Amino acid sequence: MGSQEQTTLATRNQLFYGTFIYPKTLTDLEYLHNTAVAVDQNGTIVAIERDYDLSQAASTLFPRLGWAPDSVSIHSSLASHNQFFFPGFIDTHLHAPQYPNVGIFGKSTLLDWLETYTFPLEASLSDPAKARTVYNRVIRKTLSHGTTCAAYYATKDVTTTNLLADLCLRAGQRALVGRVCMDQLSPKYYRDASAADSVDATRESITYIQSIDPTGAIVRPVITPRFAPSCSAPLMAELGKLAAETGLPVQTHISENEGEIALVKEMFPAKKIGAKGDTYTHVYDTFGLLTDKTILAHGVHLSEEEVQIIKARGSKVSHCPCSNSALTSGAARVRWLLERGIEVGLGTDMSGGYSPSVLEMARQAALVSRHVAMGCAPAEKENKEQKESEGEKESKAKTEGKTSKDGNAEKETKVNKANKDGIDRERAKLTVEEVLYLATKGGAELVGMKGKVGGFEVGMEWDAQLIGLGRDVADGEFEGDEKEEEGNVDVFGWESWPNKVAKWLYSGDDRNTRKVWVKGRLAHERK
Ligand code: GUN
Ligand code: FE
Repeated sequence: MGSQEQTTLATRNQLFYGTFIYPKTLTDLEYLHNTAVAVDQNGTIVAIERDYDLSQAASTLFPRLGWAPDSVSIHSSLASHNQFFFPGFIDTHLHAPQYPNVGIFGKSTLLDWLETYTFPLEASLSDPAKARTVYNRVIRKTLSHGTTCAAYYATKDVTTTNLLADLCLRAGQRALVGRVCMDQLSPKYYRDASAADSVDATRESITYIQSIDPTGAIVRPVITPRFAPSCSAPLMAELGKLAAETGLPVQTHISENEGEIALVKEMFPAKKIGAKGDTYTHVYDTFGLLTDKTILAHGVHLSEEEVQIIKARGSKVSHCPCSNSALTSGAARVRWLLERGIEVGLGTDMSGGYSPSVLEMARQAALVSRHVAMGCAPAEKENKEQKESEGEKESKAKTEGKTSKDGNAEKETKVNKANKDGIDRERAKLTVEEVLYLATKGGAELVGMKGKVGGFEVGMEWDAQLIGLGRDVADGEFEGDEKEEEGNVDVFGWESWPNKVAKWLYSGDDRNTRKVWVKGRLAHERK
């Protein structure tokens, strides 16, 4: 066993006891109380005992597992502090080097934001000392918010991209780490010299990352063309071949912003690249970049035709609600994607997004879905415009005397139609259970860890958080700031468990994230 692997191995068998909550399906959370979850030294869940009396463990469970009682650490969730175990969060899209810029975006939109804020900072992180400071901080920060796995973009610099992988491995945070490919459009000071250089540098980084974690248990490389505008056709073609050759995952951005989409249309006309259509999706598809391991960030403005291609290729979408609001990119239609069978996860997209918290992304996903329900999604606007022009035609017809004879019937049809639209849009709203699914189990599908993390079942690995909502509020019991230190959520004691979870989603933060484990190993503890 290599020394790196040892650092990621839990040293003892562990028994977790108490309340466990996890997504069973997109729509339902499982609530298990008085339950014991046994996790072996590899961090794998080997037994789950429901309605279990902990005092029986030494005489029944441990002998069955072949565990000596003194080889086991026991961790209980405290009912008195409204604690429960929840799967670790998966951040399916973020840029580690952009972390110092969180909150700094002014009124910019994607393309000017990249030029003004992002490229200069990313370029400066080829300095290993600066990169170490920033990368250590972003890893610690995301872990403290319960992120047990993250799909990171690094920069174009190989040395510091490899450093990011080293630091993730050391901190015990699961990560996909991608060296960013970009051979055009960006400023000269931050651009690969050629497509060939870009591919060579990518191969170098892949080889390194695979050498430090040969089984890919904690860190894995990911092929990362930044987005179509910053990659030449030859570069994308080579990266598509590399994905086919290595079977590695791919991550990139798609259809985030209207200006970007127009640029892609202009830069990659179907005729020029031999595409079967002239959409953004056709560009990636033409170069073999849409695989069943591809994570596409944003997808705000995708068309029906594009989604069908993405579905056929098995590619996935990372929904980045905070970034899409901050950079005024638009409101992505998550329900619409899910109904078309697309797997969706959540991404902080720092620093397009300003928050390191996937819990916050789940909350914002819920809110953005309500904006979609209120008619703010791009397709909704198109529908409205279409309806308006239909309305114009109708009134023109009326003045020309071609109107329906029964005015009342006509009115009624319009009302029915409006109601139907309202009901259809209502469907866009995502529930507490659904956004928490996207944050965990849904994310696991994106990062290639379906069935491995994102829930609590025998055979899955223990990537988990201990959440504590604090003691119930009781009159006069708390002095000074004592209650504030327990976090922002106030539980009064009469709430059902689903309501406690809803309060956590909408008003919780990292103060509620008491402990975080990755593959059975404690990776963060709130003091
Ligand atoms: N498109 C290309 N690069 C980026 C980036 O760094 N962030 C976001 N949000 N979109 C991009
Ligand atoms: Fe991004």
